[in-house]
Amino acid sequence: MFEGKEVFEEKIERLRAMGLLRESRDRGSPQGPGIVIDGRALVNFASNDYLGLAANEALILASQRASREFGAGAGAARLLAGGARLHGELEREAASFMGAPGALLFNSGYHANTGAIPALAARGDAIFSDELNHASIIDGCRLSRADTFIYRHADAAHARQLLEKSGDKNKRKLIITESVFSMDGDIAPLDALHGLAKDHGAILYVDEAHAVGVLGGGRGGLSHFGLSAETGTTGAAIIRMGTFSKAFGSYGAFVAAGTGTVDWLRNAARTFIFSTALPPGPVGAALAALRLVGSDEGPALIARLWENREMLFRGLKEAGFETGPTRTPIIPVFFDAVDEALHASADLYAAGLYAPAIRPPAVDRPRLRLQASAAHSPEDIEGLLDALRRIRKQ
Ligand SMILES: Cc1ncc(COP(=O)(O)O)c(C=O)c1O
Repeated sequence: MFEGKEVFEEKIERLRAMGLLRESRDRGSPQGPGIVIDGRALVNFASNDYLGLAANEALILASQRASREFGAGAGAARLLAGGARLHGELEREAASFMGAPGALLFNSGYHANTGAIPALAARGDAIFSDELNHASIIDGCRLSRADTFIYRHADAAHARQLLEKSGDKNKRKLIITESVFSMDGDIAPLDALHGLAKDHGAILYVDEAHAVGVLGGGRGGLSHFGLSAETGTTGAAIIRMGTFSKAFGSYGAFVAAGTGTVDWLRNAARTFIFSTALPPGPVGAALAALRLVGSDEGPALIARLWENREMLFRGLKEAGFETGPTRTPIIPVFFDAVDEALHASADLYAAGLYAPAIRPPAVDRPRLRLQASAAHSPEDIEGLLDALRRIRKQ
């Protein structure tokens, strides 16, 4: 029998020797500020559950109701009658929440980027992509076969140079950025990139995975910059991807855009066409999350997230940690070597705190990637800061 050992053992051992072997640890509890792993209760700083909605009672009830009414599985792709009424409702409400004319659901953010980007750009087109864009964007660019130009991180001037140099030989131009960068927590210069897209008749594609529910009153980076998602011929066309898997506590993703773009993606995005639709449960939970964040409760929840973010950030700065250019609840704490990051993570684990080390090749510099959540208590954050101060003194 092929076990893979004879082929992969050497590679796995090499990764292990470098401290780069990845292993997953499964929870014995819901996601949240307090989790259980291997029977141990831990305070969790690793999840993207920014608003603490993953185990929210209203979302769980909505998920149960959706499963009861529409079943546990979708049974087919949307185009083959896999969709339920809830799928359409979620698309309409996501579009309205984002201030866009339309939206199309995808099964995940990964599906959205690897499906939408190749549908929007093909051989002969040009993509201008931030060097720190997420793997799903990189894969989307590769699948598109468009000429891809990588600009220096968050450097709109460099993107402008590349756009000017590329001239008119490419038919369609797409500028792609995350609004909040997933590993560093900094914010893209969306205003400058928007101006650039306008000047060059390019489409601006913004991955709002870590911005929806967090920035711009929960409506993402574009709202944060006070930009509207105009899609007419006078402005730059803006297409936004957002996930329900992070601040919205469920699963699935959407691409919000003009109705013509949405109609095209429905016909051309292969990850939409050739994959079974999202099960009703997560769709029901995503709808409940969207309604909750859009209700009177939303602003208070988001304010709590930012208070916790400020408390953690201030504490780290006062203790002298290097945190890079973060401006959001994603806060990296950098270490010079992989070993140091691994030891820090292990020491935190021993102290009842969960914050895995992020290492190459996912990032260039080893780090702990800390995430503040609205659900953390001040004691949770103080406990983490205390433990980190102790680690620093060792
Ligand atoms: C910037 C960015 N885009 C896309 C994704 C993928 O989203 P999902 O987890 O919904 O597949 C992620 C998640 O890790 C991300 O950080």
